[in-house]
Amino acid sequence: MSTPPLDPHNFNQIARYNALMDVVRNRMTNRAFAPFTVPRDHFELILEAARHAPSGANAQPWHYIVVTDPAAKETIGQCFVDEQQRRAKLRMGFPTPNYNGVKTAPGLIVVLADFRFVRAFPVLNDGSELDRLYHQNAERILLQSVAASTMSAHLAAVALGYAVWWITAIGQDDIQRQIKPLLGVPDELAIIDVMCFGPPAKPSYKRWKKPLNQIMSWDRFNPDCRMSVEQLDDWIKTMRHKVMYRDESKID
Ligand SMILES: Cc1cc2nc3c(=O)[nH]c(=O)nc-3n(C[C@H](O)[C@H](O)[C@H](O)COP(=O)(O)O)c2cc1C
Repeated sequence: MSTPPLDPHNFNQIARYNALMDVVRNRMTNRAFAPFTVPRDHFELILEAARHAPSGANAQPWHYIVVTDPAAKETIGQCFVDEQQRRAKLRMGFPTPNYNGVKTAPGLIVVLADFRFVRAFPVLNDGSELDRLYHQNAERILLQSVAASTMSAHLAAVALGYAVWWITAIGQDDIQRQIKPLLGVPDELAIIDVMCFGPPAKPSYKRWKKPLNQIMSWDRFNPDCRMSVEQLDDWIKTMRHKVMYRDESKID
């Protein structure tokens, strides 16, 4: 269905925007789910949304593995729990969540990316320094593409009434080495994140979001939005844990 650009006086278009925003606003991360059997067609509805995402060169460099085997979920969840402990030992100082919820997440989808698609973007492939820079950019294009597709899947899950959890804490190569054979993932593909979803064990809460005037400039970058490294470090020290784990209405 194609529609003309948004007309603020057209009630149908505003209603459509509001319906979309209801899904967008209510996408809230939740890290513990109630027991539930996700119907197979829900997985298909969710990944149908992922399928329509835009991607650089329309390469669609993604693949999704729906994991339904409880033993596989347990193993994958344990990988995250182990990685969390590894990070704690390394004193990374990152406020890490409890990853046990992965083990029993009613919906668990592993997201794969084919990094060989960097070749589909503007690169020289001659091993030069310039080529390295173009490769770097190509990798960014690829990651943005997979993220666009993954986000569509998350929004579709929210539209179906699920709470969602986006997990990138894959860590280093050893997790890839453990999970790939378990799921038969070919060597040339990378596991870049995991999507969990299900009915929330406890109600989701809305986390703090920057107000519009902090993320938006007209014509020229608004200097008020600039952060020094000192301000950034201070934010990490005083605010990060609050915005990660608190309801926005409870942040002082
Ligand atoms: C790219 C990306 C990576 C993320 N990685 C993790 C992760 O590894 N573990 C985790 O518990 N949450 C992860 N999250 C969830 C974020 O912590 C969460 O989106 C953020 O705190 C904002 O909360 P909200 O999703 O409720 O708006 C990730 C989200 C995104 C988009």
